[in-house]
Amino acid sequence: MQSRLLRLSLRFVLPLAVVIGLFAYAVVPLVDDLTLRWFVRDLDTRSQSLANALQDPLLEYVPAKAGKKINQLFDRAMQDERLYALAFCDSNGRLVYKTATYPEQLGCRGPQTPNQLRQSLVRLPHGPLHVSESSLDSDEAHLGKLILVHDMSFIERRSADTKKYIYSLFALMAVVISLITVFVAHLSWRDWVSSVKNILRGAGPRAHPAVSSEAHPIEGDLRALLREFNVERRTRDDSTHYWTPDKLRSLLHEEFAGDEILVVSNREPYLHVRTSKGVEVRRPASGLVTAVEPVMRACSGTWIAHGSGNADRESVDANDRVSVPPSHPSYTLRRVWLSKEEEQGYYYGFANEGLWPLCHIAHVRPVFRSSDWEYYEAINQRFADAVVKEARTDDPVVLVQDYHFALLPRMVREALPKATIITFWHIPWPNPESFGICPWREEILEGLLGSTILGFHTQFHCKNFLETVDRYLEARIEHEASTISYGGKLTQVAHYPISIAWPDSKNVVSTVAEDRVAVRAELGLPPDHLLGVGVDRLDYTKGIIERFQAVERMLEQHPSMIGKFTMVQIAAPTRSSLDEYQNFESRVRNLVQRINSRFGNGSYLPIILKAEHHEPDEVNRYFRAAEVCLVTSLHDGMNLVAKEFIAAREDERGVLILSQFTGAARELHEALIVNPYHVEQGAEAIYRALTMPDVEQRERMRSMRALVKDFNIYRWAGRMLLDAARLRQRERIMTKIRAHSRKSLRRVV
Ligand code: F6P
Repeated sequence: MQSRLLRLSLRFVLPLAVVIGLFAYAVVPLVDDLTLRWFVRDLDTRSQSLANALQDPLLEYVPAKAGKKINQLFDRAMQDERLYALAFCDSNGRLVYKTATYPEQLGCRGPQTPNQLRQSLVRLPHGPLHVSESSLDSDEAHLGKLILVHDMSFIERRSADTKKYIYSLFALMAVVISLITVFVAHLSWRDWVSSVKNILRGAGPRAHPAVSSEAHPIEGDLRALLREFNVERRTRDDSTHYWTPDKLRSLLHEEFAGDEILVVSNREPYLHVRTSKGVEVRRPASGLVTAVEPVMRACSGTWIAHGSGNADRESVDANDRVSVPPSHPSYTLRRVWLSKEEEQGYYYGFANEGLWPLCHIAHVRPVFRSSDWEYYEAINQRFADAVVKEARTDDPVVLVQDYHFALLPRMVREALPKATIITFWHIPWPNPESFGICPWREEILEGLLGSTILGFHTQFHCKNFLETVDRYLEARIEHEASTISYGGKLTQVAHYPISIAWPDSKNVVSTVAEDRVAVRAELGLPPDHLLGVGVDRLDYTKGIIERFQAVERMLEQHPSMIGKFTMVQIAAPTRSSLDEYQNFESRVRNLVQRINSRFGNGSYLPIILKAEHHEPDEVNRYFRAAEVCLVTSLHDGMNLVAKEFIAAREDERGVLILSQFTGAARELHEALIVNPYHVEQGAEAIYRALTMPDVEQRERMRSMRALVKDFNIYRWAGRMLLDAARLRQRERIMTKIRAHSRKSLRRVV
């Protein structure tokens, strides 16, 4: 501590002493010069008064040539201690009278000008002299001049004294100022360091009221720098009109030096399934997979997921990896294996009986069991370990998907502190009261806050999350910046509405008209039959029952549609081992049966339920063949079916009926927006869609297609990656500042 103070003192005292010394060095001659002038002026005045005093006696004695009297007069005048010598020169310039002290070298000096007092300074070997000459004139003639010589050595003595005092004064000032400076610098330094630390933690000045005002300009500069940086990034994003796979790839190369992307999700993008025809590769019915798979094709990398196909194990290599897509491999699928009990506890239990109903307002009670929670923790850890194992660098970009992995971000962060972890929550986030019923709410929030970025579909879900954290954790939340600082780690919470890959027209094998005809023929319906389509997992959140009730009411209210309109519901079986899902499926089947028996006639069925898996191409044909697509979720993060329907309609026809409780309703304003709980409203919307003029259909569809095409999945991923790159860059700047602060602190200490 003492040596630190000594160094700190030396660091400030030495330069200060030098500066003050130089200052004194410059000031002293000025002071010297000034005092000299004061003294000279003083001597001038004294000389003048003395000359005046001697004038009258001399006017009497000089013409009388009274030398003795003049000498006596001079001796009396010499009583003045400052007066050094006196002399008188006659009008011919001859030295006539003088005191003994008068220096010979002075002689009679220059020619005399009458009635004038002339002064000059003369330096002789015995010291500096002040010489004044005063003319002596009678009424009739110029008699000569009186020369008065003053000794100026006392001025030099006084000047030396003055210098001494000035130097002492400056030395004293130097010491006092230095001590004050050391003291202030010491305090400011500590505040500056704590202020920088404060910024690094993402806290604003408000968070640390003790931060000194001296630190604020620097803190302000840093913040301004970061703000500029953010603005620049945002501008770049906004100016990018169309995102493509190539654009995403080049972003990765530019911003992440081509770093590998690691995706973690429960659902795998390709399942190997054993069938009677051998092993087949299937695509699951999953919005998550629909969205993320094109991103992975573009970025390559590794996708870590649960191997759930019954032929998955025999399709991987020794490291549980398989290259996909099978037709033209572009990334690696790394499978993680779960036992039946683990799948039951982690996936069916905690994720789908607990978190799923907790986050969706669909009036199904969540079920929380300690044993499920234990599996959930263990499986999150297993996937986190897989991420760490697959990562080739210590700062990979990890895209964590969905509610199955709320704990994983923190687990990965602990193992790879420099990783960029982007977690996307694909389902809604409830309000704090609803979320609060989860017995492990703090653990889930802490787990998610291991993320660099936490994404939701809508601003509303972000707000709910911030409020939930505010309610249950001791975290610092910046609502304006939408950041949470927890445990020294900053998480950006932002909304990124998910989307789909806009289809490439080169891949379209048939026209819409051909698909219309083919689908109707397959269903045994006449070519002009009106079709509605719904494509969902058989999930109670999807509003399938409400949708069928709306169809029933429409047929009641518009009997002309009976026999002319059929609703085709593609319903992929899902989570079928859970009671809630089994009950739901049987309620759906019963309702279909009741409506079909009420309005069916011969081969005519108002509702065709296709409760089986359909590959994407097949689903696409139904989208293209239908007059109307019904998306009536009771609550949904986004719902990509709505966007897939729009993307499929290159003919710019078809009407989308969309629940107001989906994330998609925030973007697709030209859809017919309905409240699925309001059956009459749903019925009217179906009728309106079936009778909507072509022109209106085109207007609406064209506008929605432009939006979905522009805000596609590459933009979704691109925006998240750009934000991640911005945060990574910010982290780098902060690391540098931190290192710099540490270095400076070490130097000071
Ligand atoms: O909606 C959330 C989600 O994870 C979707 O992303 C996905 O479509 C669906 O659930 C899939 O559910 P599961 O994988 O349980 O079949």
